[in-house]
Parts: sequence; C-alpha cells; structure tokens
Amino acid sequence: MRSSSAARRKQKLKRLKNKSVLLGVTGGVAAFKAADLIRRLKDVGASVTVMMTEAAKQFITPLSLQVASQNTVYTSVFQDPLTHISLPALADVMVIAPATANIIAKLANGIADDILSTAFLAYQGPVVIAPSMNGKMFEHPIFQENLKRLLSFGIRQVGPESGTLACGEEGKGRLADVPDIVDSVIAAVTPQDLKGRKIVVTAGPTREHLDPVRFLSNRSSGKMGFSIARAAWIRGAAVVLISGPTALKSPSGVILRQVDTAAQMLRAVTEETDKDASVLIMAAAVADFRPHLQARTKAAKDNIDSLVLDRTQDIIAHVAAQKKKPFVIGFAAETGGKLERAKQKMQRKKMDMIVFNDVTEIGAGFESDTNNVVILDRKGSAKTGLLSKDEIADAILDRYLKIKT
Ligand code: CTP
Repeated sequence: MRSSSAARRKQKLKRLKNKSVLLGVTGGVAAFKAADLIRRLKDVGASVTVMMTEAAKQFITPLSLQVASQNTVYTSVFQDPLTHISLPALADVMVIAPATANIIAKLANGIADDILSTAFLAYQGPVVIAPSMNGKMFEHPIFQENLKRLLSFGIRQVGPESGTLACGEEGKGRLADVPDIVDSVIAAVTPQDLKGRKIVVTAGPTREHLDPVRFLSNRSSGKMGFSIARAAWIRGAAVVLISGPTALKSPSGVILRQVDTAAQMLRAVTEETDKDASVLIMAAAVADFRPHLQARTKAAKDNIDSLVLDRTQDIIAHVAAQKKKPFVIGFAAETGGKLERAKQKMQRKKMDMIVFNDVTEIGAGFESDTNNVVILDRKGSAKTGLLSKDEIADAILDRYLKIKT
C-alpha cells in the first residue's frame, strides 16, 4: 500500500522545470509582489533572473529580489556591457510584472534606454506583461493605443484586475493575482496543442434544496474539474468552466459559470455545448436526487417524517444523446475496484471516454490533491498511477487528443 507521504510528494507539477525566466520589474506600487512571484515561479521549477528599472528600486530593493531569486539582479545596462544581449539569449520566457504605463509605452515604440527595455529589444522568445496602474491611466486612449500595439506583436497580457487600487480609487488597474501571472508564464512556454478548441468542463458538487437553509449535496471539492480547466487553458483551449459551489478560484483565462443545482448545471451545459464545443468533460459530482418538494420557508423538523426524492436529469447522457454532440468524457467514482461497472456506464450513457477512480484508495478522490485513475475509451484503457490532479488532467487531455487529433 502506498503511503500518504508519497501522495503528498506528488502534489506539485513542475511545469517550468528547466525553464529560465527573465523577470522585468518596473516602478509600480505592486513591485513588492515580485518577491512572491519569484518564489512561486521557482516553486514550479523555474530559475529566475531579475532586471529592475530605476523606478522599481523605489518600491523594492534589488537585495530583496536577489535573495528571492538567488541570482544577480540587473539594474543598469552598464553593470556589465553585454548583459542586455546575454540575458535574453539565455531566457525561455520574459515576464514584466508589474508593467507600468511607462514601460508599455516604451516597449510599444522600440525605446531602449534602460536594461529592461534594451534586453526586451534583444529578445526573440515569448513575453508576458502584467500591467498595473491607476484606473484612469489604464483607460487613457494613448495608453490603450500603446497596449494594443504591443499586443499586436504576439505578447501575452495577464490582468489587470478591477477593485480598490493603491491610490484608494476603484477601477481596473490592479496587478493580476500572482498565481495567474505564473499560469500565463507557463502557457507562454507550453505547446498550444488545444488551440482552436472549445472545452466545456464541469466541476464541484450540486446542491438540491429542501428549503432555504437545508440541501442535499456531496463531498466533491471541485479540484479535479478546476485542474482540467486550467490545464486545457494552459494548452491553448477556450475553456468554459461550469461549477457548483466550491472554495476554489478559477484560473483567470477561463470563463467561469457558477451554478447551484443539477437543473441549473444542465441548462448551462446545454447552452455551452450547443455553441460549437469540441469536448464536454463532466467532472462534476452531480446530485442524483433532489427533494420532491422544495419549501419556500424553513420546514420545521416536526413536520418532516421522511423525504420524497426525485431523480435529477442525467446531464452527460442528455448531451451524448444529441445528434450534433461534442466528444463526451465522464467520470466514475466508485468505492472498490469496479472497473467493469465504469465500462458499462460509459456504454450505457454513450460517453466517448470515462475516467474511473476508486475513491477509497490512498491519495485518490475527494478533497485530495492527487488521484489515481484508469482512463477508458472505446478502444482500450490506461492506468495513470498515483499522480497530482494537474498531471491527471494532462493525461486525460493527451488521451483525448490522441483520439481526436
Ligand atoms: N452525471 C451527470 N448527470 C447526473 C449525474 C451524473 O451528468 N445527474 C455525470 C457525472 O458528472 C459523471 C458521470 O455522470 O461524469 C457519473 O455517472 P453516474 O452514473 O452518476 O456515476 P455515479 O455517481 O458513480 O453513479 P452510481 O451512483 O450509479 O454509481
């Protein structure tokens, strides 16, 4: 039997292993977040080298970023006369976070007057920018023109977010969340093998209400579905994530539709799969039953003897029965190794693929960051072994691509 520490070791997928990230930090108030960004990039396997502008040094010291990156921090073109050529030559990806209005204006117009803008011109690989500034500056038509021009050269943008800004004003201009910047960097160096496909993913539990305070639900955390949505987005797909109530944050590039009940999930899935979806991946643990009656006011316990339940509509079977249907992938969570039962489920519901997991195994199933599944399709099956849910997500997408290249 595998130990739970083996399960813990498998949790993190090093998506930036052996990748060298050249991070440009400019002078916005969010510059202090660069230290956290460096830590998280290193966490997923990257080595990070930092370049800072003069203004950035007003907000965070080079020493802090040297400690965080464990690398020399470059602040001037003249520190070493050839670094503006050698740094970009060694980088797999360049990320500028935070990117001020000033640096975006400079880069859009080819101005090279400091280490960052000079190295940018000498760099030929993928670039990610994370703009951050006051909302009025962000909306200014001159800035928007500069941004548009810069993006037209194939540069990726992440954020900014809306909310309360450092100046106290409400608006759009807050630096993207650090995990979203990391995801954009990962996407920039990942082959876009799902580009041009729309993938609809469901996740989490549904809630079936008895009255305004009580509901029937299940233990699904949503982690598997969210991992699939994130992996598909990183690989270039247009992703719609339809999720029941969970505590998870959706990846920034994914369109999130939040639902509550199985009936709402059915409606959202039908709408999205009607609109040219390539794949439906039903990772949600849809409640199989709902109370026959839903009270408008809280039902007193003395008035409840037993519950009468109705079956909810089977969402995946409904989609798979349509004439014009996407590739349909379902999940079968079983207690005990009932692989045959999963196979029958795939055939009965006319799925194209089913992901079977035994939730009683260590490191598999509900709330866990790992899983251990068998992927079955019409032609055969493949065991993944114990992997992180991110790796399982990639394995499912790989298998789908093999069938539907
Ligand atoms: N599913 C669905 N609509 C439902 C119920 C389930 O689309 N009303 C989907 C799930 O998202 C999952 C697959 O069907 O992809 C699971 O099938 P199901 O027969 O519900 O599996 P179990 O819940 O494991 O079923 P059983 O209780 O029969 O073991």
